[in-house]
Order: sequence, then C-alpha cells, then structure tokens
Amino acid sequence: RKPVTVPGLRAMKARGERITALTCYDASMAAQLEAAGIDIALVGDSLGMVVQGHASTLSVTLDQMIYHTAASARGVRATLLIADMPFMSYRDPATALASAGRLMAEGGAAMVKLEGAGWACEVIAALAAHDVPVCAHLGLTPQSVHKLGGYRLQGKQQDAAEKLVADAHAVAAAGAELLVLEYVPAPLAARITRELAIPTIGIGAGPDCDGQVLVTYDLLGLTPGRRPRFSKDFLAGRDSIQAALAAFAEDVRAGRFPGPEHSYQS
Ligand code: KIV
Ligand code: NA
Repeated sequence: RKPVTVPGLRAMKARGERITALTCYDASMAAQLEAAGIDIALVGDSLGMVVQGHASTLSVTLDQMIYHTAASARGVRATLLIADMPFMSYRDPATALASAGRLMAEGGAAMVKLEGAGWACEVIAALAAHDVPVCAHLGLTPQSVHKLGGYRLQGKQQDAAEKLVADAHAVAAAGAELLVLEYVPAPLAARITRELAIPTIGIGAGPDCDGQVLVTYDLLGLTPGRRPRFSKDFLAGRDSIQAALAAFAEDVRAGRFPGPEHSYQS
C-alpha cells in the first residue's frame, strides 16, 4: 500500500474514492488501523473523554496530545497521522505555530486539526503559510460545548446552515486542506462537499461526504453507556478487531455506511 498523503486525499476526492478515517490514541491501535488499510488515523482530543473519562475534551493538554500522537506514530506506516490541536492551543497564530510545531516535530503528525472558522481563519492561514497541513472542523465543535449548550445537531435552521456553508468556504480559502463535518444534517454536508474542492470527512453528517470518521472505541463497542446514534458497533457479530475495521472500511468505500439510521435529514 502506498502512503496516504495530503495531496493524495484531494486526488481521492477527484476520483470519487471515499476516504476512511478512525481515531487512534496508541501504537497498538495505530498498527490495527494500518493493517486494515485505513487511510487516516486521527489522534483526536476525544481521548479526553474515551481514554481519560472526562465529560468534555476541554481539559486535554498539548503535552498529552503529543504523548498520544508520538505513541500512535510508532504504529503507522502508510496511514496518514493527524493530530488534534487541544483547547486554547491555537488561540492566536503564534501559539498555534508553536503547538503545531510540537505535534509534528515531537509527535510525528503529518497534519493538525482545529475547530472553528471566523477568528480561526487567521490561524489556519498562518499554519498554511508555514506549510503545516490543516484539517478544519465545523458543525458540532466539541471544544465549544459550553457555548453550544450540549452535544446537539448543528446547522438545523436556515441561517445556521448558511453560516456553516460560508464558514466552510472561509476555512478552505484560508488554506485548510481537509474539513471534518460533525453532527450536521446530511443534505447540508452534501452541499458543502459539492461546493468545496477540498475533501470533507463526516461524522454524523450523512453518506455524501468524501470520507467518514468514527471514534474507534464506538466502532468496537468499547464506549460505556449511550453511543451517539450516528456511530455503529462494527464488532457486533464479528470475531475480531481486524474484521470490524475491515467492515467499516468496506462499508464506507461502498457507500453503505452511514445509512439513513445513522444520518439526519434536518
Ligand atoms: O476528537 C475526535 O475524535 C474528533 C473526531 C470525532 C472527528 O475530533
Ligand atoms: Na476532536
């Protein structure tokens, strides 16, 4: 398998090949994603919730992200490694350059991900100017949970939907190379995916994004308590982690996941 690259992701979009992405927090899981041929391993700050047991991602530190990114980097070869920038680690361009520099140099990330548009566009532009590949993240942005008032579907009202479309264009114009869309109606994610040249990766954003990402602990049925409706336990009825990861990859590439039961129409 040829290594997945940032320009390669755009080429996949152009060819209509769906991109597979999963979260990853350590070397063993990274090796599993690598073996299953998953395109992207995302060291998500969701680790604050699923690994550390917190109620939000806000307490995750840059040092913790570097620790988990470096561990994950030892397990991948062809799979592209993306690291989340934690809360407040990209609050201004100078802080963002320092944080991204550490995630890449010490952590081994090939790309960094950050949440938001507006003020964040200046940060994206600064990173892009220094050849740091950036993945933007819009829709439900978990670092804004207190402002949003909970983990809810975003972009439901007409004005919120139009704002999301404008934000998507803005982050792309600022230099983002990839866009995660989380927990938004499927038709809205489909429209953004059509309008942007850069690939979109959906989670709870319907089947028409250029790729799909899930929290791997949800996919393996490891997450205690209630799982979001948009995720799916791919280990249920299968006998190995490799089989579950392969089923996810196959279903995404064939356009079978997410189905209507994992998506929102409005
Ligand atoms: O932290 C994370 O796992 C994420 C994905 C859900 C996109 O940001
Ligand atoms: Na995240």
